[in-house]
Amino acid sequence: MNGRATLEAHATGEIVAHAQGYAASLGVFGEDAASWMKKLGAGLPATTVAAGEKVSKLLVARLAARGLLEFGLTASSGEELAVIEPQVADYWPQTATLHDSDRLVLSRFAYLRRRGTDFVLESPRADALFRLRDPNIAAILALLATPHSLKELRRSKHFFDATLLGLLLHSQLLMKAEVADGAALRRREGDEQLVLWDFHDLLFHARSTEGRHANPLGGAYPHAGAIAPLPAVRPGWSGKTVELPEPQALSSFAELLRRRRSARSFDDDHPITLQELSTFLDRSARVLSRWSDPSTDDGGHTSRPYPTAGAAYELELYLGVARCEGLERGFYHYDAGAHALAALPAQESDFEASLAQAAQAMGVAVAPQILIVVASRFGRISWKYSAIAYSLILKDVGALSQNFYLTATDMQLGGCAIGISNIDLFARLTGLALHVEGAVGQFALGRGVK
Ligand SMILES: Cc1cc2nc3c(=O)[nH]c(=O)nc-3n(C[C@H](O)[C@H](O)[C@H](O)COP(=O)(O)O)c2cc1C
Repeated sequence: MNGRATLEAHATGEIVAHAQGYAASLGVFGEDAASWMKKLGAGLPATTVAAGEKVSKLLVARLAARGLLEFGLTASSGEELAVIEPQVADYWPQTATLHDSDRLVLSRFAYLRRRGTDFVLESPRADALFRLRDPNIAAILALLATPHSLKELRRSKHFFDATLLGLLLHSQLLMKAEVADGAALRRREGDEQLVLWDFHDLLFHARSTEGRHANPLGGAYPHAGAIAPLPAVRPGWSGKTVELPEPQALSSFAELLRRRRSARSFDDDHPITLQELSTFLDRSARVLSRWSDPSTDDGGHTSRPYPTAGAAYELELYLGVARCEGLERGFYHYDAGAHALAALPAQESDFEASLAQAAQAMGVAVAPQILIVVASRFGRISWKYSAIAYSLILKDVGALSQNFYLTATDMQLGGCAIGISNIDLFARLTGLALHVEGAVGQFALGRGVK
């Protein structure tokens, strides 16, 4: 267990984790769990947990998912080298096999920084974060800006231990490569779709969503009590002000804007119908026309009822349908060109989890009738734009969300934007790799409670 967390066993068999002022239930375990909990609190050799019973592995996985577990790594001399903090639920330390002739280089997504008083090595691609204890590791990492064989590294006075290098390789903080030039290294790391990602964009995506890191996320008020909140309306500038004239009378569109409100609870006795869903998608997101520029081979273009950067229209809609009259419950992709839904063979447990997370994000007990997951085909936009690709995607989500809100209001339906997405869950629902197509926004839709 890491130093930031404590566990508490309740008489019901439930184990609750406390960390940084938050309490989270890890689930209900048997009597054994309390004794594993005590042992884990004190620290255990990883081999003991691996050989332990199912309950201990489950407890370990749940602790890891919340970033409450860590693995200490010592050199054969007994000196502490690093501490591994898992970032995903199923992390278990594994070393990639290394031969003396293997040439290693740092991943272009790896970065070192100060976190509090720790020196940490992280990457948006890695399943674990490494807290470095020995400065020699930083010296070896500096060498690994260019490919070095293990044999060459062993000759360095800073060399510590090949096990840590194997762990870093397995977690994709290092990669194997022969070439020396940076552009060629970029092309060799991952597939073509990964080549298109800039470092800061992938980091932003992985750290501002759920599923690929174990940091606190969402409305946690981390600075309440220490720093005063900003007022709801900006205090005015001093100096000359110009009073604005009386606005014109409200148009029907302006009335629609005024009527728009977020709806989080839905009338499940009268769910949204397939006809209404079809109308909603047609009005808010359907492809209206196609065009291409004969002078540029850029994949062609479409027009749709919302603006997007560079007319890229990289956003895709996936629908988690919980209740819709005339449409079977399930997970669908909306084909905006054909105006049709394709059913995806998603696991029921993943589907349920996505609906439950949406309800939790809205602070309600019942899932929305339809959960629209807005995904991005990242390469469609990063093929063109450098440095601003991910920020453009999020701005596009904003424009589309306003369409959803206004269309729902106009149709007397209810809806609510949801700020959190789980990119790991989306990858499981669709079978698509995280960096190819991923969740960037969500919208709950249904017939609002009157
Ligand atoms: C980007 C964005 C993210 C939001 N995320 C959530 C959310 O996760 N949960 C929620 O209940 N409401 C969410 N909302 C809705 C806002 O809370 C809501 O728009 C705001 O309170 C103003 O209320 P109104 O929409 O009824 O005018 C979000 C809205 C936006 C635009």
